[in-house]
Formats: sequence, C-alpha cells, structure tokens
Amino acid sequence: MYNLLKGKKGIIFGALNENSIAWKTAQRAYEEGAEFVLTNAPASIRMGELDVLAKNTNSQIIPADATSIEDLENLIEKSMEILGGKIDFVLHSIGMSVNVRKKKAYTDPNYDFTQKGWDVSAVSFHKVLNVLYHKKAMNEWGSIVALTYMAAQRVFPDYNDMADNKAYLESIARSFGYYFGRDFKVRVNTISQSPTPTTAGNGVKGFDGFINFSEKMSPLGNASAADCADYTISLFSDLTKKVTLQNLFHDGGFSNMGVSDAVMDKFE
Ligand SMILES: NC(=O)c1ccc[n+]([C@@H]2O[C@H](COP(=O)([O-])OP(=O)(O)OC[C@H]3O[C@@H](n4cnc5c(N)ncnc54)[C@H](O)[C@@H]3O)[C@@H](O)[C@H]2O)c1
Repeated sequence: MYNLLKGKKGIIFGALNENSIAWKTAQRAYEEGAEFVLTNAPASIRMGELDVLAKNTNSQIIPADATSIEDLENLIEKSMEILGGKIDFVLHSIGMSVNVRKKKAYTDPNYDFTQKGWDVSAVSFHKVLNVLYHKKAMNEWGSIVALTYMAAQRVFPDYNDMADNKAYLESIARSFGYYFGRDFKVRVNTISQSPTPTTAGNGVKGFDGFINFSEKMSPLGNASAADCADYTISLFSDLTKKVTLQNLFHDGGFSNMGVSDAVMDKFE
C-alpha cells in the first residue's frame, strides 16, 4: 500500500454488498489511509451488509436517497461534522433501471419507469454535485468520480435505457465539472468500467454471455471490481490533479477494439 489517501476525507455512495464496486473502493481507500462516510438508499442499508464494511473500515453510515436534495444536504452536512472538515473525494456508484428490472423492452418502455431510472442513475449525480457546490463542501484539489458504461457511446441492446442514463451522467460530469474546476479546483470525471458481476451488472439481460464476449475482446481481459477500485484510488490521489472533465475507459482495452482473434475463432 502507498498511503495515497493519507489524511483525505470522503463520501462513498453505493456499496450494497461485497461485490459492489463501491465496496471494493471503500476497502482500498481505507488501506490507503482515507477516512470516509458510507451512504446508500435506506432500503439498501436495511439489508444489513453495509454494517460489516463500516466496521472493517472504521466508518459511519448515513442513509440518503440520492434523488432527494434534502437527504443529500443532511448527508453532506453530517459528513463534514463526522470527518471534521471539508471533503476531498466523492464516489457516485449508483445505477438502477426500472425498465430493466421489469423486463420492459427498450422499444416499449413504461415512461414512469424511464423517469425513475433516469433520476436515480443520472440526475442524482447532478443533485450530489449541486449540494456539494452550494455548500462549498469540497477541499481544493478534491476529486469526484462517477461510474459509467460504454453503452453511452455504442449500442448494447440489452443495456436498455441505462445507455441513455449513462450518456446523460457523462455529460453532467463535463458540464458541472467545469464549474467545480473554475471555482474550487476540484476535478470531476467518470470511469467507464468493464462489465462486472455485481447486483446491478447481473440484472442486465444476457450478462453472462456478454461478460465472456467482453473478456475475449479485451487484450488485457475485463477489469474486475477490485481493479476499478485501484483506478478510482488513483483518481482520488494527488497524482492525477489535472485530470478533469474526462470519461476514462477502464476496460482492458475493449473500447478501442474492432474484433479480436479469440472472437474471430468462433466464426471460422
Ligand atoms: N456491474 C457492471 O457491469 C458495471 C459496469 C459499468 C458501470 N457500472 C456502474 O457501477 C456503479 C455501481 O454498480 P455496481 O455494479 O457496483 O452494482 P451494485 O448493485 O452493487 O451498486 C448499485 C448501487 O446503487 C444503489 N442505489 C440504487 N438506488 C439508489 C438511490 N435512490 N440512492 C442511493 N443509492 C442507490 C444501490 O443500493 C447499490 O448500492 C453503477 O453506476 C453501475 O451502473 C457497473
């Protein structure tokens, strides 16, 4: 370990269970010397597993529905009290499509579901940034990261309306990131991660086949949740101070591939 986050204070959204990308990131942040608050939607916290992570990382849990400005204000105020000062890093690791859950086709969605999924998966990031911005809650040279997927740029039919939500999320990172850079010297980026076997990932139709395809397409293989945690730590550290407004592919090279030998072998 490198003490990359020694003395840094953070807020980590979205650790549901030990498979979650946010869970692995919290473990790594702790190893690197950070102090942080864990948060998730009240219903997810009631499932109970987050207590284990809190205990193992010496951290407190504050429930917040990330679509509620009121909850976010409470979260950010309390976090600054608990941590004894402003925030250095924030991870937004939240996603959910009601249309995917209810098996609605992209071509025939329920638009109330569309709106709910968009609010949770994309607009929640705007709300988090909004509250951090107006409370002047971030320290200079702080870092904010949200997680995304390449369906924002390319067609992956089974990703359904999450593709649109991710495109919106990535745009928010750029648009709001400008103001954070200009006014607070804080960076805002998205990490575009490989398919990863988590609760959210496994909810996507055909996920098992797809993760194998992606593995065979990527020269370095898929990036795991633990790999993603490592990369996220680098973005929270002082080693990446001038990286901002970026969508950063963390996918073993998948995003620049056309086809690989391993995939062609299946067709010859
Ligand atoms: N798993 C993958 O294949 C993959 C690939 C690329 C990007 N991502 C993204 O990574 C992020 C984390 O997902 P994961 O794969 O670790 O799955 P996960 O299911 O472990 O995490 C999703 C989290 O979102 C939280 N959440 C849902 N609604 C919420 C709300 N209203 N308020 C607060 N939190 C809420 C859930 O409680 C859960 O903790 C998501 O943005 C996801 O889209 C995942």
